[in-house]
Amino acid sequence: MTTIADTWGLHEGHFWLRGRRPDQPVSFDAGTGMWNVYGYPEALRILGDPKTFSSDTSRMVPEIARPAERSLTQLDPPMHSKLRKLVSHAFTPKVVADLEPRIAALTNELLDTAADTGRLELVADLAYPLPVIVIAELLGVPGSDRYLFKQWVDKMFEGSQRFSLVNRSEEQERNLEFVMEQAKHLSDYLGEHAAERRLRPRADLLTQLVEAEVDGERLSQAEVVNFANILLIAGHITTTMLLGNTVLCLDAQPEQLARARADRSTLPAVIEESLRFFSPFAALSRVTNVDVEFGGQQVPADQLLMVWIAAANRDPRQFADPDVFDPSRDPNPHLGLGRGIHFCLGAPLARLEGKVALDILLDRFPHLRTDPDEPPLFLPSPNMTGVRKLPLLTSAG
Ligand code: HEM
Repeated sequence: MTTIADTWGLHEGHFWLRGRRPDQPVSFDAGTGMWNVYGYPEALRILGDPKTFSSDTSRMVPEIARPAERSLTQLDPPMHSKLRKLVSHAFTPKVVADLEPRIAALTNELLDTAADTGRLELVADLAYPLPVIVIAELLGVPGSDRYLFKQWVDKMFEGSQRFSLVNRSEEQERNLEFVMEQAKHLSDYLGEHAAERRLRPRADLLTQLVEAEVDGERLSQAEVVNFANILLIAGHITTTMLLGNTVLCLDAQPEQLARARADRSTLPAVIEESLRFFSPFAALSRVTNVDVEFGGQQVPADQLLMVWIAAANRDPRQFADPDVFDPSRDPNPHLGLGRGIHFCLGAPLARLEGKVALDILLDRFPHLRTDPDEPPLFLPSPNMTGVRKLPLLTSAG
């Protein structure tokens, strides 16, 4: 069977995309000094037990790469529960649901702007700007500043691609310093906006975050900036990957594409299956707090675990025919958006943007196929699976 990974030459490390299984569900990698977790039940156990498997991975990285204040994703209970409750107060499902008309209008505007040449570069024309503008507008920072923060975020990802606990080379230190510098640009930028909202509140999410109060407690300036940071970064790459990956999955299976075109009520299920089959975030990280036995291995305390949710999503112990893209799976308990207390807070937004954008794309382009002469380019990070460039042909001729 030729897979999408074979057709387009995806990262060799992404063996699960080629229908291969790991030798063991849990194994130690002496090259990086980290443990790899590939199995579904093992991943589920880790994500469901924050007491044993901590999200505070900052203690494992060199000091220069440690943020002054940990963000939501790196906190454990009880701090995590407190902060999540506070930010959930501002970032509610209703706030997201109300964005649907704006997401549709933006999608149409962006596609109007894309020259009608019979071609579309999905990432530059739609999948990148759409989520960034949506999250920027929601936060209350100008969407037109996206070129400014794109360069910081892109450089952050470039610099953080290769990390090893074993090879603490000078190059790695320089890379980490570079990443931290870019992160600081973004934090300073958001900090200025947040400080401004304290003085002059507006109808936006930054103001709501500044004012959010639970049990008499408010977010500190650093906490507001940290959370806005996560949202802006998450808004940059995640939905971009989701949209690109979904279009690629449908492109590889014309019968599924025809089905999705004919019955748009199936789009949410198509998106869920895309999250399972081509999971954008391939790996999450955790640290063991204590010695623990799982997946047939004895793992000591203070070990860094890479939880490969993308591989777990292809575990035949959980999913029948895991290498078949089948949107009719029901249930589809994939781990693409995480699980447990850190389950993706942006899931309703990602799902909504994915559904609305895909629906409009299918409406506007009766023909939408990849171009064999101009293959997609993928993000170079081994921890992510997503397109960086996706040229599409929009006319059959
Ligand atoms: C957490 C995936 C879109 C905000 C997570 C986690 C995953 C994930 C796997 C769990 C991290 C962990 O357990 O360590 C995705 C994917 C997306 C997406 C695949 C798109 C398809 C978004 C968007 C936003 C967002 C659009 C916001 C604008 C967050 C936040 C967390 C999170 C704030 C941290 C929650 C916590 O730690 O309690 N996401 N995400 N995500 N995501 Fe997303």
